[in-house]
Amino acid sequence: MGLLFVIEGVDGAGKNTLARRLVSAWECDGLHIARIGFPRYDRSVHADLAAEALHGEHGDTAGSVHAMALLFALDRRDAVDEIRKLLSHNDVVLLDRYVASNAAYTAARLEQTADGGAVEWIRALEFDRFGVPIPDIQILLDVPVALAAERAAARESADAARTRDAYERDGSLQSRTSAVYGALAAANWVSPWHVVTADVDPDRLAAELTNQPSGEPRVTP
Ligand code: TMP
Ligand code: MG
Repeated sequence: MGLLFVIEGVDGAGKNTLARRLVSAWECDGLHIARIGFPRYDRSVHADLAAEALHGEHGDTAGSVHAMALLFALDRRDAVDEIRKLLSHNDVVLLDRYVASNAAYTAARLEQTADGGAVEWIRALEFDRFGVPIPDIQILLDVPVALAAERAAARESADAARTRDAYERDGSLQSRTSAVYGALAAANWVSPWHVVTADVDPDRLAAELTNQPSGEPRVTP
C-alpha cells in the first residue's frame, strides 16, 4: 500500500512546481509515483461545472458557498476507487489539492475559522460519508499571499486561456484562506501536516516524506 501525500496552498503558491520536483526526486530513487490534481478538470463533470461557475457561468452557483463545496466534494467522491487503485500499485500517490482545499476555501468564504462549522461539515461529508481516503501527510506550501497573487496575475497575462477565476481575483478571500490553512496545519487536521515555505529544498522534503513511518497515530479533530 502506497503513501498518500497532499500538497495544499492558496492560488499561485507554486504547488504544481513543488509537485513536479518531488516526483522527480522520488523517481530518481526508483519509487513508483502517481499524481492527481483536484479539481480533475476535463475528467470530472463536477470539476468542470465548478470551474465554469467560477468563470461566471451557471447563474448563481458560484454565489452559493455550499453548492461550490458540494461540486468539489463530488469530484473527489468519484475519484475514491481510482485513488485506492493507485495506492495499491504505487509507492506514493501525490495529490495537488484535496479535502483541505474545500475546508479552507469554504471556511474562508463564510468568514469562519478552522474550528468553525464549515470545516467540520466538509470533514464529515468527505471523509465520513463519502469515504475518501485519509492522507498520510498533508503538506502546506505556505507562501506570502502577495507573492501568490502576483503569480496568479502573471499566469493570466502570459496565457489568455488562464483568466483568473472569482477566487483568484478576491485578494481578501486568499488571505483568509491562507489563515485557515495555517490553523488546519497547526491542529494537524485529520492527519499530520508538514508546513514548508517557497524556498524548501524539494529533494530533502521528498526524502523526509518517504522516510516518515506511515503507521504513526493520527491526530483527529
Ligand atoms: P485550482 O485553482 O486548483 O484550479 O482550483 C480552483 C479553485 O477552487 C481554487 O481557488 C481552490 C478552490 N477549491 C475549493 O474551494 N475546494 C476544493 O475542493 C478544490 C479542489 C478547490
Ligand atoms: Mg486557481
